[in-house]
Amino acid sequence: MKPVIALTKGRLEKQFLTFFASQGYDIEPLVEKGRKLRVKTEQFEFIFAKGVDVTTYVQYGIADLGIVGGDILAEFQPDVYDLFPLPFGQCHMAVAKEKGKDWPDQKKTMASKYTNITKAFFKAKGESVDIIKLEGSVELAPILGLADGIVDIVETGTTLKENGLIVDEEFLYFSARLIANRSSLKIKREQLRTIIDSLKQKEAL
Ligand code: PRP
Repeated sequence: MKPVIALTKGRLEKQFLTFFASQGYDIEPLVEKGRKLRVKTEQFEFIFAKGVDVTTYVQYGIADLGIVGGDILAEFQPDVYDLFPLPFGQCHMAVAKEKGKDWPDQKKTMASKYTNITKAFFKAKGESVDIIKLEGSVELAPILGLADGIVDIVETGTTLKENGLIVDEEFLYFSARLIANRSSLKIKREQLRTIIDSLKQKEAL
């Protein structure tokens, strides 16, 4: 059976394919996959999923390897082997609020997709905040008055800027990571060695 690699759809997928091609792999079937979520190449089988689901497929051994953002590992702490950073997907966490607006004097309400990271961040500061969980487009929350600010990942900063938000504080710097199923690493060691080594070669964060 071909090794199965779970790939995070969207931005990381594009960056991974560029990197994968630079390592000499044929990415044509992956680029031309259309809406297919499962694609076989000559050497591998790829599955395409949301970041957190990539970790689930890897944890349960459906996928041997996964490409996932470090933010997902920090937030959900899945039971997978975190092999090493990859040279793309650099981003960081930021606390942000509306430009020109002060924090309230009383307890803040923060909106985030990353409630665990948010909780840990404010706990470490000794500050008590209310946290509202959102699934996406978090930047809307302060604009619409749902929260005083947000905790979110920032890559280029464009989303914050175009929605009139500014960074108050930056913390936790991430890149994409290569993860592996714990038993695949032992059982399929030889089969996975080449791909793991080739993804490791480039200088990473
Ligand atoms: C992420 C993040 C920000 C945006 C930051 O959202 O939550 O909204 O990317 O990127 P930027 O700094 O390059 O603008 P994503 O694109 O994953 O979509 P989502 O809002 O649906 O979660």
